[in-house]
Amino acid sequence: VRTFLLLDNRHDEPLSEGFTGPDVRFPPVLPRQFIEEWTRPGDVVFDPFAGFGTTLRAAEEMGRIAWGIEWDARRHAYAASGLRDPSGLLHGDSRQLSRYPLPDNITLSFTSPPYMMEDDSENPFTNYSAAGAGYDHYLETLSSIYRQLRPRLAPGAYVVLEAANLKRGDGALTTLAWDVARAISDVLTFTGEIVVGWQPTYGFGYDHSYCLTFRAL
Ligand SMILES: C[S@@+](CC[C@H](N)C(=O)[O-])C[C@H]1O[C@@H](n2cnc3c(N)ncnc32)[C@H](O)[C@@H]1O
Repeated sequence: VRTFLLLDNRHDEPLSEGFTGPDVRFPPVLPRQFIEEWTRPGDVVFDPFAGFGTTLRAAEEMGRIAWGIEWDARRHAYAASGLRDPSGLLHGDSRQLSRYPLPDNITLSFTSPPYMMEDDSENPFTNYSAAGAGYDHYLETLSSIYRQLRPRLAPGAYVVLEAANLKRGDGALTTLAWDVARAISDVLTFTGEIVVGWQPTYGFGYDHSYCLTFRAL
């Protein structure tokens, strides 16, 4: 995978009726690049925050075995309906990842985690539906999720998190990408970032993101 990608953010398929608000999907062209480069047909691809199922669908279409976890019931149902074999897509909570019967030969974990600004009061791991315990706790929780994932990874597996540094209209900036890279480095070996430029942009200050790449070495 090159270290800089310029990708079109538009989706060929619109979301079905009833999904509103910001579209937090990444386009399939993003996971496809990594699946192509870092896995082979028959390998297991996992997404701990499966969302609308973009990673898993791309994986399945490319002959890989798709596993994932999604917290939101409606998103889970939507994602499952797009898979030929939805049995690996679990409706659950990745904070409890070690409790699920995931395979232990995951070759690539590819995701975009729920984001948090430093002063947000909601907990991103409940889809912002409950009060959070602060930004440091958010980072510790993310690190704990990947600590639980580690034993399920094949030797040398790749782990990628797509994250951005977040800017708000009032000038506030959260160095989310830097902080996520550091938090996951407690558990896995950081091997660098791939910068992704997005056209058109997602929203204020968000015209590029980082695919933070780690390995189980
Ligand atoms: C940024 S979105 C991922 C979108 C996905 N990449 C796509 O293209 O559809 C993050 C997802 O994580 C889910 N989520 C939040 N907390 C979770 C948790 N504790 N366990 C599993 N999934 C969670 C959210 O419901 C959301 O769908």
